[in-house]
Amino acid sequence: MSLDRDLPYQSMSLLAKQYGDVYRLTIISREIVVVSSHKLVNEVSDERRFRKMVAGGLANVRLVTGDGLFTAHVPDEETWYIAHRILMPAFNPAAVQGMYGDMMDIISQLVLKWERYGPEYVIDPVADFTRVTLDAIALCSMNYRLNSFYSEELHPFTTALSDFLDQCMSRASSLGIVNAIKVKAQVQFEEDQRVIKNFVDKVLEERKAHPVDKNDLLNLMLNGVDKETGKKLPEQTIKHNLVTFLLAGHSTTSGMLTFAMYHLIKNPETIRKLREEIDDKIGDRVVSIKDVNKLPYLLAVMRETLRLTPSVPQRGTSPINVTTLADGKYTIPQGMTIVVNVSAAHRDPLVWGDDADEFRPERMMDGKFEALPANAWQPFGYGMRGCIGRVFAWQEVQLILIVLLQKFDFVFHDPSYDLHIKQVFSIKPVGLRIHAIPRARKP
Ligand code: HEM
Repeated sequence: MSLDRDLPYQSMSLLAKQYGDVYRLTIISREIVVVSSHKLVNEVSDERRFRKMVAGGLANVRLVTGDGLFTAHVPDEETWYIAHRILMPAFNPAAVQGMYGDMMDIISQLVLKWERYGPEYVIDPVADFTRVTLDAIALCSMNYRLNSFYSEELHPFTTALSDFLDQCMSRASSLGIVNAIKVKAQVQFEEDQRVIKNFVDKVLEERKAHPVDKNDLLNLMLNGVDKETGKKLPEQTIKHNLVTFLLAGHSTTSGMLTFAMYHLIKNPETIRKLREEIDDKIGDRVVSIKDVNKLPYLLAVMRETLRLTPSVPQRGTSPINVTTLADGKYTIPQGMTIVVNVSAAHRDPLVWGDDADEFRPERMMDGKFEALPANAWQPFGYGMRGCIGRVFAWQEVQLILIVLLQKFDFVFHDPSYDLHIKQVFSIKPVGLRIHAIPRARKP
């Protein structure tokens, strides 16, 4: 069987049905191990024995993100530890709450667009959620306005980033010689990297020329001194992290938002209950930062969205020393890549039951989520390499979904739309189109 280039994680899930929850796979000449059950995901989520492996498509992403947090080789790259210590405080709940104003500024631009275009307008949710999440992370992290809602076309940086990621993933499953002879693609690949690098160079130069008095990630990286080593971050690492935040901060969250819309429209009873909760607790007034954590059903909808359609469906890990898997059954050499198929484990019937393939937020409520076995729900990765931006993402998605449901009803453009997914850095629905119908105002 060959892997579907657009959906390697789904091919790997199919292989698990045939060969079991742990199997070996050769991609070109590289041998990897794939684990797909909750039991095995739990086993490899042990930082004493395993650590993150940056391989395959992610290794190609290093061309622009280098030693940035997402793609750093740890423990070899000391800058990961320094950046992690300097940046962690900026991602705690209190700091992220301070970004409410900037987030709402960008969200209001999305609402305005959908209100102005009206109910007939065919919305491409991936494109508009890309605009909103990218503009929000750029404004919150580096005080930069991409102004994506002011033009029909996406910002050249966004287009370059998306083409670049596409190439990174497809190159990982092609022979080097095949990549080398695709001259046009190679030229475009290099041009995309230039656009991405030039963009962050510009942001950094502007900040140095015109410092701003804002406690954003860029100022933290420029001025922060690591308490443990007394070191500052090298300029190159700052640039790598700027690209990292723009990339990791938008692609995952826009995917989550699009899947949430898909699941909500597909499940009228869920959207009805969610709207009732929002109408009841917030009504027509502008949502405040204090409101967001008072909506248990919204929380359940978000958790269930990331269970069934996790934005990052698989991650790479590797044994620190030679080790065994599956209660000592298989020996795994040191350094071997293990693909953790989180998406498959999120549907493990032993944890989630026979209706694991169904979207049912109720399974995430009333203490059931808290009672789940360790690592059963793992959309934000694991341990020290887990997502640093999850509080940011959570708040952003909460605000966006609340505001959108306050303002609009939603329908599919094509009522017979079948979910198609494409996997690049994260996963996104393909071809989904919707309409946003302004809700009738109460008199
Ligand atoms: C790491 C998921 C939003 C920044 C990760 C990882 C996952 C993940 C699974 C670990 C990847 C691995 O082990 O290879 C998500 C999801 C998000 C989201 C599902 C939204 C729904 C964000 C946001 C930011 C962000 C908004 C930035 C503001 C990062 C960074 C890392 C990371 C920098 C690397 C951490 C490290 O290794 O030190 N994310 N993420 N993410 N995420 Fe997120």
